[in-house]
Amino acid sequence: MADFTSILLVVVAALLGLARAHTVITYPGWRGNNLHTNGTLPEDNPDTIGIDLLENGTMAFPYGMQWMYPCGGMPMTTNRTKWPYGGGALSIQPGWFPGHAKAFFYVNIGIQEQGQRAPPNYSHPVVPPFQITGPNNSEYNGQFCLPQVRMPANLSLAVGDNITIQVIETAQHGAALYSCVDVELAEPADVEQVTPQNCYNSTDIGFNLVFTTEALTGGAASLLSGPSTTVAMVAAVVMFGFAFVL
Ligand SMILES: *[C@@H]1O[C@H](CO)[C@@H](O)[C@H](O)[C@H]1NC(C)=O
Ligand SMILES: *[C@@H]1O[C@H](CO)[C@@H](O)[C@H](O)[C@H]1NC(C)=O
Ligand SMILES: *[C@@H]1O[C@H](CO)[C@@H](O)[C@H](O)[C@H]1NC(C)=O
Ligand SMILES: *[C@@H]1O[C@H](CO)[C@@H](O)[C@H](O)[C@H]1NC(C)=O
Ligand SMILES: *[C@@H]1O[C@H](CO)[C@@H](O)[C@H](O)[C@H]1NC(C)=O
Ligand SMILES: *[C@@H]1O[C@H](CO)[C@@H](O)[C@H](O)[C@H]1NC(C)=O
Ligand SMILES: *[C@@H]1O[C@H](CO)[C@@H](O)[C@H](O)[C@H]1NC(C)=O
Ligand SMILES: *[C@@H]1O[C@H](CO)[C@@H](O)[C@H](O)[C@H]1NC(C)=O
Repeated sequence: MADFTSILLVVVAALLGLARAHTVITYPGWRGNNLHTNGTLPEDNPDTIGIDLLENGTMAFPYGMQWMYPCGGMPMTTNRTKWPYGGGALSIQPGWFPGHAKAFFYVNIGIQEQGQRAPPNYSHPVVPPFQITGPNNSEYNGQFCLPQVRMPANLSLAVGDNITIQVIETAQHGAALYSCVDVELAEPADVEQVTPQNCYNSTDIGFNLVFTTEALTGGAASLLSGPSTTVAMVAAVVMFGFAFVL
C-alpha cells in the first residue's frame, strides 16, 4: 500500500512538472514567447493529441506549447538575429518553471538551403548532449551560456545562410521541451556582442558530462554490473570543463 502511494506521488509530481516546465533562449533570442498552457484542462480533454484545433480557428495547448516538436508550437519567424557563421554563443535559462533540478540538453540546427522556405529537418547536433543541475526543483533564476557553439566543419555554412537553432530540454520524466531561434549567419563583427551580461554561468547551475557505457573501461564498468547494464546513458558525477566542440 505504501508503495502504491509513493508511485502515485511520483506520477503526480511528474504531471506537475509536465504542466509547468519551460526553457528560454536568452541569447541570441527566440521565436517568441511560447510559455503558454491554455484550452481545456488535460484531465477534461481525453481526445487531445496535445494541440487542439478550435472551431474559431485558434489553437490550444492543454499541456503547454513548448512540448510541441520541433519548435515549441512557434512557426518560423522573419525577424532573424545575426549569428556568426562559424558558430557563436548560446545562452539559456533552464529553470523558468519548476521541475528542473536536473535536465538533459540537446542543441541542433536546421539548415535552410537556397530556395527552401524552411529547414527540412533539425537533425544536425552541434554540441554533445549534456546534463545540467539546478539548485532545486522549484523555479530558479539564472542561466548558463555556451560561449562558442561551433558549427560542424563538414556543413560549410556561409555568411547570408539561414539556419534555425533548436534547443531541447528534457524534463526529469523524459518528455522534451522545444525552443528555437531563427538566425541569419553573419560575419562575427556584425553580430550582437557577447558580454558577461548576456553570456554567463550562474553559480548554482552545474554541468554533468553524458557518455555511453562503451566509453567506460576497467573498474568503472563494474558499476554497471547487474540489472542496470541496460542503461546506456550515464551522467558522470564530475563537474566538467569540456569545450563544446564537435
Ligand atoms: C521576433 O519577434 C517576436 C514577436 O515580436 C518576438 O517575441 C521575438 O523575441 C523576436 N525574435 C528575435 C530573435 O528577435
Ligand atoms: C476561440 O475559442 C476559445 C474556446 O471557446 C476561446 O477561449 C478563445 O478566446 C476564442 N478565440 C477567439 C480569437 O475568438
Ligand atoms: C493559446 O495560446 C496561444 C499562444 O499564445 C495562442 O495562439 C492561442 O490562440 C491560445 N488559444 C486560446 C484558445 O486562447
Ligand atoms: C533568409 O530569411 C529571410 C527571411 O527571414 C529571407 O528574406 C531571406 O531571403 C533568406 N535568405 C536566404 C539565403 O534564404
Ligand atoms: C536533413 O537535412 C539535411 C540538409 O540540411 C540533409 O542533408 C539530410 O540528409 C537530412 N537528414 C535527414 C535525416 O533527413
Ligand atoms: C530554489 O533555489 C533558488 C536559488 O537558489 C532559491 O531562491 C529558492 O528559494 C529555492 N527554492 C526552494 C523551494 O528551496
Ligand atoms: C558531419 O560530421 C558529423 C560528425 O561531426 C557527422 O555526424 C555527420 O554525419 C556529417 N555529415 C555529413 C553530411 O557528412
Ligand atoms: C559555462 O560552463 C560550461 C561547462 O563547464 C562551459 O563550457 C562554458 O564555457 C561556461 N560558460 C562561460 C560563459 O564561462
